[in-house]
Order: sequence, then C-alpha cells, then structure tokens
Amino acid sequence: MSPARRRLVIGLMSGTSRDAVDAAAVSITGAGPDLFDLPNIKIRLIHHLSVRYPRSLASDLLSLDSLTSGDICRINVEVGEAFARAAIKCAEGAGIALKRFQAVASHGQTLWHIPPQGGPKRRRNGSTMQVGEPAVIARRTGLPVVSGFRAADMALGGQGAPLVAYADYILFKSKAPIAVHNLGGISNVTLVTPRLEGVRAFDTGPGNSLMDAAMRRYFGKPFDRGGAKARRGRPDKELLRRLLAHPYFRMKPPKSTGLETFGPAMLDEVLPSSSRKRGEDVLATLAQFTAHSVAHAYRRFVLPGSAITEAVFSGGGTRNTFLMELLGEHIKPVKLSLSDSYGVPAQAKEALAFAVLGAARLDDVRTSLPGVTGASGSVMLGSITHAS
Ligand SMILES: Nc1ncnc2c1ncn2[C@@H]1O[C@H](COP(=O)(O)OP(=O)(O)O)[C@@H](O)[C@H]1O
Ligand SMILES: [Mg+2]
Repeated sequence: MSPARRRLVIGLMSGTSRDAVDAAAVSITGAGPDLFDLPNIKIRLIHHLSVRYPRSLASDLLSLDSLTSGDICRINVEVGEAFARAAIKCAEGAGIALKRFQAVASHGQTLWHIPPQGGPKRRRNGSTMQVGEPAVIARRTGLPVVSGFRAADMALGGQGAPLVAYADYILFKSKAPIAVHNLGGISNVTLVTPRLEGVRAFDTGPGNSLMDAAMRRYFGKPFDRGGAKARRGRPDKELLRRLLAHPYFRMKPPKSTGLETFGPAMLDEVLPSSSRKRGEDVLATLAQFTAHSVAHAYRRFVLPGSAITEAVFSGGGTRNTFLMELLGEHIKPVKLSLSDSYGVPAQAKEALAFAVLGAARLDDVRTSLPGVTGASGSVMLGSITHAS
C-alpha cells in the first residue's frame, strides 16, 4: 500500500445569498493509490473565515436584473479579487504560507442558474454562470485554481447541482443513513447512504433568500438577525398557501433552483408594492414557507425508503434561531442537529466541500454523481487555471 499523502487546499464559496466569501483551509489525507481512496480519506478543517463583499459589489450582485454585459464583465474580475483576498486571509489565519497549499478551489459567485428543461423526450440542457475570474485568483495567490465546477455536469444534461453531495458522503458516511442539510439562500439536502451509489441530493427550495429579500424591502437590512422579526409576526395563512402551491415542490428530484425562482422577483409577484402587509407578518410567513417546504421535501423525497433519524444542518440559516425552531418541529420525528457538533462549523461546510472537490480534480477523480444530478454520465468537475 502506498504511504498516506497529505494535500492542503483552500476552498472558496459564496452562495445565493451573495453576502460574503467563505474560505476554508483544508487538509486532505489519503492512504490509497490515490488520495481519493474513499474508505481511507481523512479531511481536516484547519481554519475558516468569511469576508464580506465590498458594499458596492454586494449591491451590484443583488441588482442583477439591471446589470449590463459590461457590468458583468467588470464584476467577474471584482469578484475574483474578493475571492483572492479571502484565500490569502485564510492562509494567514491558518498560519500556513500560501506556497504550501496545492491549490485553491473556487466555486465562484453564481450570477444565474437555469436548470435543464423539459421531459425525458424533449430535454434541453441547462446553463449556469459563476463569476470570479480564476486567472485573477491564480495570479494573486500564486496557486493553481480549480473552478467552473458545474459546467461539465450540465453539458451532460445534469442539474449541475447540488455538487456538495460527494463531500457530504465523505464527511458523514460513518453516520449513514443521515440527511445533511445546508441552509444558504437556497436550501439543499443530501441523503447520505452507506454506499456512494445510493446518495441522493436536491434543492428543497428557498433557504434564506426570500426572508433576506423581505428584510431589504421592509427594513433596509440584509437579514433578520436570529429571526427576531419573524418571531414577532403573525403568519398569513392565505399567502403561505399560495407560496406552497409553487410547482417546484411537486417536481421529483433531480432538481435544482436559485434566486431566479425563489428570490426578490417572487416576493414582488406575491406581494406587489401596493400590498400593505406588515414586514414582521411577511417575515413570519416566509419563515413558515421555508420550514414547510423543507418538511414537505423530507416527507415526499427523503424519508420514503430510507431509515434516517437525524438531519445535520449547516449554512448561515442555522443562525436564524426562530427558523431552526420551526424546522425542528416540522421535520419531527427526524432529529435536527448542527454540523458544528460533528466538527464541521456550519459556516464552513460548503467551502470545505469545494476544497474536497478541488483536491479530487487535481487527482482526476470523477466527483459528479449522475444519480444526484440526472446527468447522462460521470465526469471530473472543474477546470484548472495555472498561476504561471
Ligand atoms: N445571525 C443571523 N441571524 C439570522 N440569519 C442569519 C444570521 N447570519 C447569517 N444569516 C443568514 O445566512 C445567510 C448567509 O448564509 P450562507 O450560508 O452564507 O448562504 P449562501 O451560501 O447562500 O451565501 C444570510 O443571508 C442570512 O440570511
Ligand atoms: Mg454566503
């Protein structure tokens, strides 16, 4: 047997909330012929941090509908610079020189995500766009950059999402069967099974995206700290019923979604500016909406045929204590826990997952899971941009 090898990778992620770049310095040790000998791989988080986007960039990223092609061209490099700064700060925080890392794995910032359309007979591939120029990150860090993780899966007809299922499997396979759930702007769940082939994952619908949009609209704030405003409000049953009637919830996985569907445009549609509802009541309704849609996804698509008793949550949404209380009630008898209790800080999990995917790409390992995304085959995820 070949000796254990260790690889250090910095994972970078910013999700649909478009709030900050999460960075994770990760050590990945393998004992097999390649690093990705699944039974033996060991993953250790060394350091993690979040770096908020500069104010004007954050505001551009939230007003996508009004951006020109020229704006998007500029944003690609500005996001690349922000990602590079986060990588450099993370290495500093870890106390490890950048040159000791093998690579940076950058998810980039999704600007738009169009899932595949149509049934099995007349299927149109989807399209997705992440910005954050990898050449800029490679130049600033001096490291190879793995990026563009979603495109190859979508070229094979897949959803290109969720991709973290492979890493969720490695991190939580010893606890299988278990649900691994991330509450970002969008909410996604991975059903981790004892064998990789059985793993399933999909987006359940909104995470924080609609609540954040409501906070911006009613209170001029980015999010509802601790869910305090939602807790004070009274849910509007009729509005909740209309929201839950969205066809996305009836679709069977594979499925993925984004801010295009569950974002500010949805809020404008169900609550036109003429609506005189109280902000707190809207937030209470939207918190219920997220909780109900997650519970519905579990009942329809996660629990049948699986013996899970626990769901491990991560993502910024776990800091919304009101939402977490609602979720705990709604997914009963499944027990809700936090990834922190398994040594994976809630805010670091996705960045950590991309570090794992990036390391796998360096070893030419195929990490796409066609059973998850619906693609017609398995592929290596990500392209490599060298620093020189
Ligand atoms: N203290 C908090 N209270 C309530 N919600 C929070 C708190 N901190 C973060 N959040 C929520 O988490 C979101 C960011 O979560 P994150 O996991 O970074 O999502 P994404 O992956 O979509 O960027 C914020 O937009 C906000 O809705
Ligand atoms: Mg974020």
